[in-house]
Amino acid sequence: MHKVYFIGAGPGDPQLLTLQGAEALDRAALVFAPEPFEQTFAERLNGKVVDSPFDFDFSDLVVRVKDQLATADVAFLIPGDLTFYAPFQALINYFADNSEVLAGVGIANAASAAIKQTLDLPGVCNRAIIVSPKTLGNEEGMPRLDELAGKGASLLLYMNNLPLVELCATLRRGYKADVPIALLHRLGLPGEEIIIGSLDNIVEKTAGRDYFNLDDPTGKSALTLVVVGETLTADVDGSWWDYRREHIWKKRQKGS
Ligand SMILES: C[S@@+](CC[C@H](N)C(=O)[O-])C[C@H]1O[C@@H](n2cnc3c(N)ncnc32)[C@H](O)[C@@H]1O
Repeated sequence: MHKVYFIGAGPGDPQLLTLQGAEALDRAALVFAPEPFEQTFAERLNGKVVDSPFDFDFSDLVVRVKDQLATADVAFLIPGDLTFYAPFQALINYFADNSEVLAGVGIANAASAAIKQTLDLPGVCNRAIIVSPKTLGNEEGMPRLDELAGKGASLLLYMNNLPLVELCATLRRGYKADVPIALLHRLGLPGEEIIIGSLDNIVEKTAGRDYFNLDDPTGKSALTLVVVGETLTADVDGSWWDYRREHIWKKRQKGS
């Protein structure tokens, strides 16, 4: 029986597609590929029918997938993967046992690799919070962005919809310090840019460029992830390793 595959496709660089994802994609005859995957995966999509999922209502999408499943597999390419901010849950529930979800390289993973920093560093950062200023909203009783920001927290901000000046002022209230911030724009894609600064100087470093497409009336995604927190620029030396070996790992070895 043919299946519909929801493939974690990574940030957009075809090199970051998993082997499992590549196999499923190669078998599919119909592929739903959001921007920018139709372009960046062009070689792998050659000879297949490629559509944008967002061109269809839910019921039309279901009919189209079902028709194709009679003769071949269908694939949806998910930017990053399903774990955070992916709009495919209703389809996955609909196709249930007739669907497979394949893990992929999330944007957070690509960001950490690009800046060569772990986002959770004992002694510097004890929590990493994935959040979007856009979906956080202003509902009564819900935490605000400045309440999530604070000493020891790394924040990963998806789909930012706040002007950078306002974003930095909000984060400054929460952190109560001038902490590091990175804008990771078009990771793994042509035009990739990584700007690292601090809450007090990042606006100046961007030289007025709109990295969030806030001025674009179409609301097209800017593909910029914001990461904030002390761990971004934390420098650790070998004593960090030795402390852990002495107090944690040695005991484990003895216990095994
Ligand atoms: C709908 S979310 C997708 C998240 C994705 N499901 C994941 O697993 O990470 C879209 C947001 O992810 C971030 N994003 C997606 N692709 C990106 C890329 N190539 N470079 C930087 N940020 C990206 C941006 O913040 C964008 O607004």
